[in-house]
Amino acid sequence: MDRLLCTVAAFHLMVAVAAQSSSAYERADALLSRMTLEEKAGQLHQISNPFAPTGPITPEGNIQQQIREGKVGSMLNMVGAERTAQLQRLALQSRLKIPLLFGQDVIHGFRTTFPIPLAEAASWDLTAIERSARIAATEASAAGIHWIFAPMVDIGRDPRWGRVMEGAGEDTYLGSRIAAARVKGFQGKGPGETDAVLACAKHFAAYGAAAGGRDYNSVDMSERQLRETYLPPFKAALDAGVATFMNAFNDLNGVPATGNALLQRKILKGEWGFKGFVVSDWGSIGEMIAHGYAADTLDAALKAITAGSDMDMESRAYIRHLPQLVREGKVPEALVDDAVRRILIKKYQIGLFEDPFRFCSPEREQQQWNNFQHLDAARSIAAKSIVLLKNDSFPGTKKPVLPLATGGQRIAFIGPLIQEKQANLGFWSFDWPDDSLRIVSLWEGVHKASQNRGLFGYAPGCNLNDADTTGFARAIRTAEQADVVVVSVGEERAMSGEAKSRSSIRLPGVQELLIKRIASTGKPLVLLVSGGRPLILSDVAPYAHALVYTWWLGTQAGYAIADVLFGKHNPSGRLPMTFPRSEGQIPVYYNYFNTGRPPANHDDRSYVSAYLDLPNSPQYAFGFGLGYGRVVYGAPVVNKPLLTGSDTLVVKVALTYTGTLPRTETVQLYIRDKVASVVRPVKELKGFQQVTLQPGDTREVAFSLTTADLHFYNSALQYIWEPGAFDIMVGPSSDAVQVSTVYWEK
Ligand code: NOJ
Repeated sequence: MDRLLCTVAAFHLMVAVAAQSSSAYERADALLSRMTLEEKAGQLHQISNPFAPTGPITPEGNIQQQIREGKVGSMLNMVGAERTAQLQRLALQSRLKIPLLFGQDVIHGFRTTFPIPLAEAASWDLTAIERSARIAATEASAAGIHWIFAPMVDIGRDPRWGRVMEGAGEDTYLGSRIAAARVKGFQGKGPGETDAVLACAKHFAAYGAAAGGRDYNSVDMSERQLRETYLPPFKAALDAGVATFMNAFNDLNGVPATGNALLQRKILKGEWGFKGFVVSDWGSIGEMIAHGYAADTLDAALKAITAGSDMDMESRAYIRHLPQLVREGKVPEALVDDAVRRILIKKYQIGLFEDPFRFCSPEREQQQWNNFQHLDAARSIAAKSIVLLKNDSFPGTKKPVLPLATGGQRIAFIGPLIQEKQANLGFWSFDWPDDSLRIVSLWEGVHKASQNRGLFGYAPGCNLNDADTTGFARAIRTAEQADVVVVSVGEERAMSGEAKSRSSIRLPGVQELLIKRIASTGKPLVLLVSGGRPLILSDVAPYAHALVYTWWLGTQAGYAIADVLFGKHNPSGRLPMTFPRSEGQIPVYYNYFNTGRPPANHDDRSYVSAYLDLPNSPQYAFGFGLGYGRVVYGAPVVNKPLLTGSDTLVVKVALTYTGTLPRTETVQLYIRDKVASVVRPVKELKGFQQVTLQPGDTREVAFSLTTADLHFYNSALQYIWEPGAFDIMVGPSSDAVQVSTVYWEK
């Protein structure tokens, strides 16, 4: 009976939602029919709060007046229940009283800062990632924000590119799963709920492939590569219901993404049937002039609207020129109407016409401001994001250096990040006035975790990024008196993020030297490295007995790192991006194509595809990460070595765990299509599962694969699978798999 009631209730809910959304379409049309061309252009015009810009701003004149005249449809960089309400009141003075839509970069938390997205991706924990997005949306939506410019789903294969910190790393499969989790988290139960925001999949498309890793740079790639590697996370976001897309700064094969009809009209709105709207990136419509693709802003407006960019962020090209372009017959009014309709529908769907102030509630804002449960979630995912890269025993002892004991050993803390607070937030985070009370430094974290037992010394040693070595002497003296030394180093907070590409991605300043000097004391050395990208660690890793990658972990960083150092959390993070040995290997990623001369096939090493001065393998592979205690993998066992069409392949692997602390293991499944009509990658991730192992556990993990997992784009851009032999690989990392080969016939 209960079940029947639930089914009936669910049916009514579905009908109600459908009715609401169909009326949103009808109401948008009715409103559109009353709008002047200028008012339509106004809905397509988005401006930034001039006092908190996130791009190069041009003076705008009297913004308040423009809002009152219905010449602004959306604002960004304006947060706070009161402040957004003030502007909303101005919008309601316009002739048609169309409410403003407030958008904001909420990339990894709002009031509570979560780990940077790349770090969260290292958790491979989709539930935790969705929860972090949910909390971010809950906090932001209480501060007047309707729409957030996330998730960033760009595939990043080049760690020089500063924006890899915003994405989920290099892999299409993992990136797609995370894209969907983030969209679900941000959008919650969907439009109509006051704690659900509109999400935005960005940057459409291929922005992550910027040549040389230099931000905003050109991208030249085949459509096959585009569709196979770079587009699937966008499609996954769309399938998860993402409300909006943002286009990108880069040109793709000579056509700026903002003016790119293949991307926006053919693929996104055509093939994929996307019904939401596309916002340009900051000023990217106007930037088509600098690209050499548009003669002036008029031409840029014409090209952008024609190509499918619906809203103009900060170029002012639409508001200035669209009415004229329509009147002169250069742009069909139907194109403008389509863009306006898409935006109005979203405003209707989130209930802004019913109550323009429903997201600006000072009470809700206050509640969320002090929601301490959010801090617990932030601490938990921060600990899960940490990746243990090395954990050797100190010579003469049998036990690995980590975890540290609380009490009983004297631990010295050295390095410029030990007492840092703000740096832990990383790029794209909010600096709130009470941050010094909320952000937990490593120093505070370890004190609390160890109840001050065993901690005795601290010396910064040096700054993050200068040549000053005068602090070394004190740091060395401090280390000399310790039983174990923890050294915390990294990038500066603003060395990754937008416009933060680096040609050298080593530890800046004299930090490498500091590590070597501390190592010369002969003490067991635990090295903690923070950064917004994979850094080159090959020169310092040999000096560390334990090496822990701590990214930027957010508000609760200090607690999370202490949880790992002292074994309260058994490290479970796995790298979502390959760590190169040197910049010279970039781009380096796990799912490359073999050349005709892979080194392994040739005894004579003089005619192979290799560097003379480096192995081809990276420093740390995609998917790699250690934990405390050993997990032994059995060989993968398949249900059938010979399959046909509709069969399901079941792959089982046995795990045996011999550690003493509970541990989460991420079991990864890769395939290789051994011979195909186009060359296939040496490995492709096709599944992963997380299992929690108790000491002494033996567990079996099973994966299922069908021909849907074997598909790829052939040279005619058909999405197909081809029969033949497939390697099925399972392991704890992309470079530690065991193989079973199957044959799949039509
Ligand atoms: C430019 C960035 O590329 C984009 O990701 C961001 O959302 C906008 N600026 C707004 O800040």
